[in-house]
Amino acid sequence: MKINNRLNNIPEYELSKIKSIKEELIKKGEEIIDFGVGDPDLPVDNSIIAEMIRSFDKNGFNNYPPYDGIKELKQGIIEYYRETFGVNLNMNEVLILIGSKEGINNLMPAVCDLGDYVIIPKPSYPVYEATAKLWGVIPYKLPLKENDDYLPNIKLIPQEIISRSKLFIINYPNNPTGAIANEAFYKEIIKFCYNNEIILCNDGAYNEIIRSGEKPLSVLQFDYKKNCIEFGTFSKIYNMTGFRIGYIVGNSQVIKAILKIKTNVDSGQFMPIQYAALKAIKLDRNYVNSIRYIYDRRIALAEDILSKHNINFYKNSGTFYLWCKVPKDYTTNEFCEELLKKSGIIVTPGYAFGNLSYGHFRISLTKDDKIIEKGLNKLDIY
Ligand SMILES: Cc1ncc(COP(=O)(O)O)c(C=O)c1O
Repeated sequence: MKINNRLNNIPEYELSKIKSIKEELIKKGEEIIDFGVGDPDLPVDNSIIAEMIRSFDKNGFNNYPPYDGIKELKQGIIEYYRETFGVNLNMNEVLILIGSKEGINNLMPAVCDLGDYVIIPKPSYPVYEATAKLWGVIPYKLPLKENDDYLPNIKLIPQEIISRSKLFIINYPNNPTGAIANEAFYKEIIKFCYNNEIILCNDGAYNEIIRSGEKPLSVLQFDYKKNCIEFGTFSKIYNMTGFRIGYIVGNSQVIKAILKIKTNVDSGQFMPIQYAALKAIKLDRNYVNSIRYIYDRRIALAEDILSKHNINFYKNSGTFYLWCKVPKDYTTNEFCEELLKKSGIIVTPGYAFGNLSYGHFRISLTKDDKIIEKGLNKLDIY
């Protein structure tokens, strides 16, 4: 059978070796602690669930939803951006998505033609590179270095790549490193993209997951010419990964192009889920602060244990991840597989975020304090 050749360039989404070791251990009845996936363990606020159930009484709840999202939720996101970031958006600058992963996929053909370049910093969320390749767009991989606090150095991008690029994806707060961006960086990269007619996209999946005391930032705060776009999601801060709901905001031309693709390939999200998301985004700021406080505590606990066991990590200010160095004398694979086989601990090997990240692994702190303590203390063998 002949299938799309481009699929050969794309790895399986799940790391198959780790997955098969895990399945074997589970079969044997071994206990596994999974610090691999970024799927929050925290509960969904009761008011969100209640609102979803209440919306089943609305006429037409079961019908095809509007492609661009229900007006109330778009309005809720407009208010959220105004109150949190001081950014004014209109209804044409907001689009509701079936999770931001769906949006990232639709963004590629919305902005790029076959053979265009997209600039993708590395390490990064693997979906950027995979969707680029799926759509025949060429990823230019820009390395992120710890010395630069994992902010891209745009001076390293060759002129010929700049002139062939239509899209630049950044992601702050950053998965997997936990690095955050600052005003000076955003201003510099916005100017660079504007001058070179490149659309700048910040994936803001973790915009609200920052250490208490940090200020949440949106790239749109510094984007006076409205050349940028930003993803948001209800998955991480509201513990709603399974609901599949997110959004994209910013440049109306890009939003219109994504909507054109969306109307042709999928539909809007189920309306009760959109009402649940509306309830979430309207929650008091105390809610967001309470989640930050939980991750502050987990990060501090994990940092303490890792330091005790001489595991080096990047001291970050955002997300619920820790980006760590593989102990000396181990390859990344040896370490991650041994950790799972000997101690039942799953971490994500750095190369899952691009092959520039061998020598690193990511810990996701989406487990409660007791499990973090128990699991990470097993690193004492290194
Ligand atoms: C950086 C980043 N962007 C987007 C997503 C996808 O989020 P969603 O659940 O909204 O599709 C993730 C999920 O892990 C992520 O880490």
